[in-house]
This record gives sequence, structure tokens and C-alpha cells, in this order.
Amino acid sequence: MTVETAAQAAYIVAALLFILALAGLSKHETARAGNSFGMAGMAIALVGTIALAITRHISGLGIALALGAIVIGASIGLWRARIVEMTGMPELIALLHSFVGMAAVLVGWSSFLSVEAHLDGDEAGILRFEDLLRIHSGEVTIGVFIGAVTFTGSIVAFLKLSARINSAPLMLPGKNYLNLGALVAFAMLTTWFVISPQLWILAVVTAVALLLGWHLVASIGGGDMPVVVSMLNSYSGWAAAASGFLLGNDLLIITGALVGSSGAYLSYIMCRAMNRSFISVIAGGFGIEAGPAQDKDYGEHREITAEAAADLLTSARSVIITPGYGMAVAQAQYGVAELTRKLRDRGITVRFGIHPVAGRLPGHMNVLLAEAKVPYDIVLEMDEVNDDFADTDVVLVIGANDTVNPAAMDDPTSPIAGMPVLTVWNAGQVIVFKRSMASGYAGVQNPLFFNENSAMLFGDAKDRVEDIVRAL
Ligand code: TAP
Repeated sequence: MTVETAAQAAYIVAALLFILALAGLSKHETARAGNSFGMAGMAIALVGTIALAITRHISGLGIALALGAIVIGASIGLWRARIVEMTGMPELIALLHSFVGMAAVLVGWSSFLSVEAHLDGDEAGILRFEDLLRIHSGEVTIGVFIGAVTFTGSIVAFLKLSARINSAPLMLPGKNYLNLGALVAFAMLTTWFVISPQLWILAVVTAVALLLGWHLVASIGGGDMPVVVSMLNSYSGWAAAASGFLLGNDLLIITGALVGSSGAYLSYIMCRAMNRSFISVIAGGFGIEAGPAQDKDYGEHREITAEAAADLLTSARSVIITPGYGMAVAQAQYGVAELTRKLRDRGITVRFGIHPVAGRLPGHMNVLLAEAKVPYDIVLEMDEVNDDFADTDVVLVIGANDTVNPAAMDDPTSPIAGMPVLTVWNAGQVIVFKRSMASGYAGVQNPLFFNENSAMLFGDAKDRVEDIVRAL
């Protein structure tokens, strides 16, 4: 068996492992196995690719450079993955997507420089060759375009998620026309480039795509960022697939298509969960009609002590806990698990209501609760508990804000209007754990805090939960 055949066989095994990885990652019980499949697939793919490269007479310097890049990249990757906080995962993921985008742009450019830029008139005159060249030129502009949009879009997402820039949407006049204009310009330039490949056209396509990526994500408000992250995930997959075509690497095409389509499907699920239009998400134009967050006067809020909260809980029959980003920041999940055990020991029904975008990454709350050994069967999705709040005595909102905001249902001018939320206010009593009256990630005030049946329990969520456990 030649190295070439062995590498192709390794690629098929790697592709199967990637499919198993995706299947495993779709359920928390099998997620760890899914991760292992993905790592094994990637290791096999790397070995296969390096072996292939060696057979293609790459110079010693080329191999040394590739190995150097692998060692540097792996060291930085390991270091970042070890120190990243769970709440910092989305921004790290956004940054990693930007690398895929940048790689696709570089592959496209180098592919152009090694093929089209070196043609002389005789070669271009051969009919068969001309056809192949046209296909190649089309692949170059499409790869560079998707890569550049992914690159700047992911950089903006990283800056917004890490609060380095304001998460409010950028409202340029005629923003939809700007996006549309960029797409039309891309289509025209691609046609021109396919007919007559020239350096300046590729440079303009790159510039247009970089600006479009920046604008697409900058125009999206904070509350819609989860969909943006999964959308960029999808774009990064298509960028990788485009690179696969340019490099003639089947595994890259398969992997890119898997990432692209699973990311698109995740975006679709999230759009449905958040009541957004999938098409307008891909066009980066959603959330546009919503006005800026308004500071309405909702009146006075009430406060409650941990002891009084403990009294309320002991006299309750049923309790629902709705955790959010604040539980992750405070690392309150262990205290919450302890509180749950204590209440259940007293015969009180305790369940969790998980909003699909609670926290900062899909499944964030499920992971934290599983880590603290909260039984899976009492951790329910939003749709499974939303009708039960009316029969619930006490709801504990632990560090959640946007996901329990009634303005999403009641105020059509709110930036989060239309987003389904946990209807906690229908319960007998709502206790909100947070440190201040500050707004949530979307920057929208929450009228829930001023309801008659709501009471604020101020302070770090971990400390307050532990206070209640002590009082119990
Ligand atoms: P948020 O709306 O982000 O609100 C979290 C609340 O936790 C804040 O109001 C904050 O209030 C409180 N908090 C922070 N640290 C705390 C601490 N140590 N102790 C107690 N409270 C603390 O949370 P959410 O309801 O989970 O909503 C998630 C938001 O993030 C949504 O807008 C969603 O669209 C967005 N987002 C989600 C994702 C994914 S995929 N899940 C990705 C990106 C963005 P104080 O400062 O007053 O304490």
C-alpha cells in the first residue's frame, strides 16, 4: 500500500470519527465520548496529512516550518484551553473561528499566486486548461470571500463578547443596502476574476469581504450574539471547505462541510428558540427594527434577606430554579446543588428551567449543573417548564436576567422583543439573586424586578445561596 492510499484510508477513518464526534456532542451524557472521537479523528488526520506532505517532496525547510508551526500553535492552544474560564469560552471560540477565516484567505491568496499569477499566454490558450483555470479562479474568490467575512466577523464577535467594545448594534444608515451592495459587488468581481484573473480584483474582493464581515456582526445587538457565534461557526466550516477545494484535500472538504452544516443547523435551532428569522440572521440584518434600550421608570423594587428566603422555601411545595450567566460567574452551582438536595430531602419538588441561551454558550447551564451532580431528570428545558410556573410557589432566579425579562413579550420596541423567555412572573413568589439593579447582557432593563411578587436578594449568588443553605 502506498503512502497516498494509506493517507486516504486514514482520512476516511478521521471523517467517520468526526461524524461520531458530532453525534456524541449532541447529548450531555455522550459529550465526553464525542470529544474523544473528535480528538482521535484530528490526530489521525494530522498524521495522514504530514505523511502525504512528506511524499510530495516538500523541502526539509518546509517540513521544519510546518512542524515549528504545529508546536507553537499546539502550545498556545493548550495553554489557552487550560486557563480559559467557562464564561470566556464563547470569546475564545470566536477568536478560533477568526483563525480559520484568516487561514482560508491565506490559502486563497497563495493559491492565486502559485497558479493564476504565473500563467503565460500559451497556457491560458489551451481549452481544457482554461476551463480548469476558471473553476480554480472561482474557488479562489469564493474561498477568500468566505474566509475574510469569517475573519473580521469573528474578530468583532470576540471584541463584543469580551466587552472590549460596546455590544450595542451599530446602526449605519441603509445598513441592509450596504450588505446587499457588498454581495452584488462580490458577484460582479468574481465573474470578472473568473474571466480575467488579476491581482487587483482579488485585493478588492478581500477588502469588500473584510468590511462586510465587520459590518454584519457589528450591526447585531448583544442579545443576539449566541446566534452570531453559531453562524460564524458555520461560516468557518464553509471557509475550511473552500480551502479544501483549493488544496485538493478531501478531508478538509468533508470536515468543513460537517462544521458548516452543523453550525448552520445550530443557528437554525437557536433562531427558532429565539424567535428570529434564519434568513435575516445569515444576512446579518436582524434586530434592526428594535430601538435602543429605554430607561423607563418601573417604580420601586423590594428586597429580601437570605433568612426570609429560606422561610419562603421551607413553606413551599414546589420550587423552580432558573439559573443564568450570574450563576456561572459566581460558580454558585455547587451551592445550588446542595440547596436542591436539602429542599428535596424535605419533600419539596425542585426543578430547573433552562433557557436555550442562558449563560454564554449553548448548554452552559446544563454543563455547570451536571458538574455539580444535579440529577439530569429535574433539569428541564424552557418549553417543558414554561406552563408550570403558575403552579409553582417559589422561583429562584439565580444570576439570570435577559432570559426572564417580560419585556421580550410585552414591549415590541425592546431590543429583545419576540425572544421567548421563562415566564417566571406567573409563579407565587420570585426571588432574584444578583448584585445590583444592573441590566443583563442585552443592556435592557428588566421590569420583572419591580413586580409585586418579586424580591431582590442582592449579593454574589454563591454567597447568598450558601447563606440560604445555612439558614435551612
Ligand atoms: P444575563 O442577561 O447576561 O444577566 C446575568 C445577570 O447575572 C446580570 O444581570 C448580573 O447582574 C448577574 N450577575 C453577574 N455576576 C453575578 C454574581 N457573581 N452573582 C450574582 N449575580 C451576578 O444572563 P442570562 O439571563 O443568562 O442571559 C444570557 C444573555 O447572554 C442573553 O442576552 C443571551 O442572548 C446572551 N448570550 C448568550 C450566549 C449563549 S449561547 N448562551 C452567547 C452569547 C450571549 P449584576 O451585575 O447586578 O450582578
